[in-house]
Amino acid sequence: MNYLIQPAAVGDAAVSVPGDKSVSHRAIMLGSIAEGTTEVSGFLAGEDCLATMGAFRRMGVTIERTAETELVVHGAGLHGLQPPGDDLDLGNSGTAMRLMAGVLAGQDFAATLTGDASLTARPMQRVITPLRRMGADITSRDGKPPLRIRGNPRLDAIDYALPMASAQVKSAILLAGLYAQGRTAVTEPAVTRDHTERMLRAMGVPVVARNGRISLEGPARLRACPVQVPADLSSAAFVILAALLAGDADILIRNVGVNPTRTGVIDILRAMGGTVTRENPRNLGEEPVADIRVRSSALRGIEVDPSLVSLAIDEFPVLFVAAGAADGATRFTGIGELRVKESDRIAAMATGLRALGIRVEESDDGAIVHGGRFAGGEVQSCGDHRIAMSFAVAGTVAEGPVTVHDVAAVETSFPGFEACLASLGADVCRVQGGAQ
Ligand code: S3P
Repeated sequence: MNYLIQPAAVGDAAVSVPGDKSVSHRAIMLGSIAEGTTEVSGFLAGEDCLATMGAFRRMGVTIERTAETELVVHGAGLHGLQPPGDDLDLGNSGTAMRLMAGVLAGQDFAATLTGDASLTARPMQRVITPLRRMGADITSRDGKPPLRIRGNPRLDAIDYALPMASAQVKSAILLAGLYAQGRTAVTEPAVTRDHTERMLRAMGVPVVARNGRISLEGPARLRACPVQVPADLSSAAFVILAALLAGDADILIRNVGVNPTRTGVIDILRAMGGTVTRENPRNLGEEPVADIRVRSSALRGIEVDPSLVSLAIDEFPVLFVAAGAADGATRFTGIGELRVKESDRIAAMATGLRALGIRVEESDDGAIVHGGRFAGGEVQSCGDHRIAMSFAVAGTVAEGPVTVHDVAAVETSFPGFEACLASLGADVCRVQGGAQ
């Protein structure tokens, strides 16, 4: 399946985007090992989170889908999961695999985690090393999935310095720490999203975070509580950029998660000259939310502050498009982690932008994008949802039609993306075809 985007004016609108992917995964995982029932609202019914839901159901957890975005998770307790009987296929989801590795490390059974072509090519040594040190027995294909995890319900606590900024690895260790004896601590080299810590606290586990060191005391039981999932800022980012580039639009996106560990994209777009403001700030359970107002703005090239990278880690594809439309050059540094996401996102964006007539200089862990006008053309998504959506946004302001190949993966995080973009006035449709 491809997207065909024809030039069309994006105008004023008020829109909603689906629930936060990170929070939705965690609601199922923590709800499944909690005591009591966790009522989840605003759940992201995208393929990634549905894979997590399927995996926990296969381990005996009753999860009712009471509406499209509402769940009731009947917690099995810390030691109530059952052996799944067969491999757990987590599709495209790195979050599902890495966080579940932490949960499975503490179980009294063995399970195998696998996934699609993208996921089985992604590095897992980053979770294997600390979880083995805690006492889990894990085998892999040279550090890549499938992961065979033989758990150990009496893990050893560890004090671990993360070699890279990764909320997934931090979370895996903290979740395993629930099953360990004593204090498990993780020190991170840069602040990463803290949804696991917030949800654990809401479920009664005292998690301490001080000077980049996050710790909890195990064994620790979780008490179920309601989870209201905010709209995903990472999905809102596509709408934000479409509005900024539109020329004369004023767009409101409702109820968006603005956890400070996620808002780097807003800071970077503002530094580029974008008018992005928050209205009606409030809390939705443990997570801060706001309505985000965006007014079309002329963007200029900047040096992106490397201290914002971990706070905007999923938004670099869309930021590359912002840079491609900006006046002057934008320099990205310290973004090497992008090479091991759902695709090599530096290469995928550089190749696609060049196909649309933008000059890009690429280095191992960065890029310089020389802003200009997007020509029409054909680009590859590389099977990556965020690459597909980023180029769809570029298409809204291109000088001719843009075809984005192989966009099926958009369903992993943003079901209804085309309808959302169309509601702003964009001309986007699905046409038959795949990768070229
Ligand atoms: C996520 C953490 C990030 C992010 C991913 C979701 C999470 O990955 O890219 O989309 O939910 O913890 P890393 O922690 O590997 O950077």
